[in-house]
Amino acid sequence: MRIKLSNRINAVEESKTARFIPLFEQLQKQGQKIINFAVGEPNFPAPKAVIDAAKTALDMGQTRYGPVAGILELRSALAELYKGYGPDNIIILNGSKHCLYAIFQVIINPLDEVIIPVPCWVSFAQQVKLAGGKPVFVKTVNHQLDIPAMQSAITGKTRAILINSPNNPTGAVYPAKDLAKIAEIAKKNDLYVISDEAYEHYIYDGKSHTSIFSFKEIQDKTIITKSFSKHFQMTGFRIGYVAAHSELVDAIIKFQSHCTGNVCTFAQHGALAALDLAEEITAGYLSDLAAKRELAFQLVNNLFECIKPAGAFYLFPDIHKYLQPGETSREFAARLLEKTGVAVVPGDDFGLEGHIRISFAVPETTLLLGFKKIKEVL
Ligand SMILES: Cc1ncc(COP(=O)(O)O)c(C=O)c1O
Repeated sequence: MRIKLSNRINAVEESKTARFIPLFEQLQKQGQKIINFAVGEPNFPAPKAVIDAAKTALDMGQTRYGPVAGILELRSALAELYKGYGPDNIIILNGSKHCLYAIFQVIINPLDEVIIPVPCWVSFAQQVKLAGGKPVFVKTVNHQLDIPAMQSAITGKTRAILINSPNNPTGAVYPAKDLAKIAEIAKKNDLYVISDEAYEHYIYDGKSHTSIFSFKEIQDKTIITKSFSKHFQMTGFRIGYVAAHSELVDAIIKFQSHCTGNVCTFAQHGALAALDLAEEITAGYLSDLAAKRELAFQLVNNLFECIKPAGAFYLFPDIHKYLQPGETSREFAARLLEKTGVAVVPGDDFGLEGHIRISFAVPETTLLLGFKKIKEVL
């Protein structure tokens, strides 16, 4: 029987990184030893205080439908992070993946264009397409924004610019001066700037994050998405949020009211507890990853050319010199997996051939062993 599907779903591809999760589970069940450099999450457990708060919420009967936009305590606490914002500017959704999906659903009309610097996270383009829009890719230069090229990509159909800093897959962090230029372009052309800040807490060398939110002249057009996943080791809780103009948040609430309704209530209570975590706990995550970044960068540099990531927890080395004639990054990644049991994500999944993404959010022993095996096969 041939199953008839919509043009919409036929036009998109499945998440290439999510696809790894069942594959690893299967390989591990078969007893294969996989060194997983393809993971998109830190390897710390969720904080105890967060688990306890979620358990307590369950015991207290927080098991029913809640407000579509999220529990007021959580929205209010998050609004405090944004000067001039209140709970009406915040909506809690099922991770920032869901935030981005919802944003495109409410701002895009058919064939509207969204400018996306590449390489970029796997879901951006597919989510634009799911909303009927057209992703317009603009190459970066040494992983940094090419502002003139972005400017030239603007047409009468451009609706938004999407930025992601710190970046997945490159770890690039965009300097404030470039964000100022993006703000200027957005203001001049009346565009939204969607800023995916899922990794804002993972910036190294004592540097800090500049959000597009700090450019007041375009505040009404900035849409920030954030996640509890990476910062608080809560990937399975599925909590993220959008901070934006209240009318935009209202539109997402309308959309969400027909979509999943509220996000899991007791998971939101876990998120509320995460906001009260002692600074040392989150600082500990950062310093652990900072040490791994140094080690991973040293190891990667012995084999490949790679720009040192300023943030997030990925390396994105250039693999051209090891490619066999005609070999793609996907075939290279398959060769690595087959010969060494080391899993990486091909650059092609992020829109840039000739590269692979390696996550360094793994134990140090795994880093050492994985790079040893890669070296042997190369
Ligand atoms: C850039 C970026 N945005 C969003 C997400 C989704 O995160 P979550 O839905 O867990 O909040 C990820 C996950 O890997 C990501 O890398």
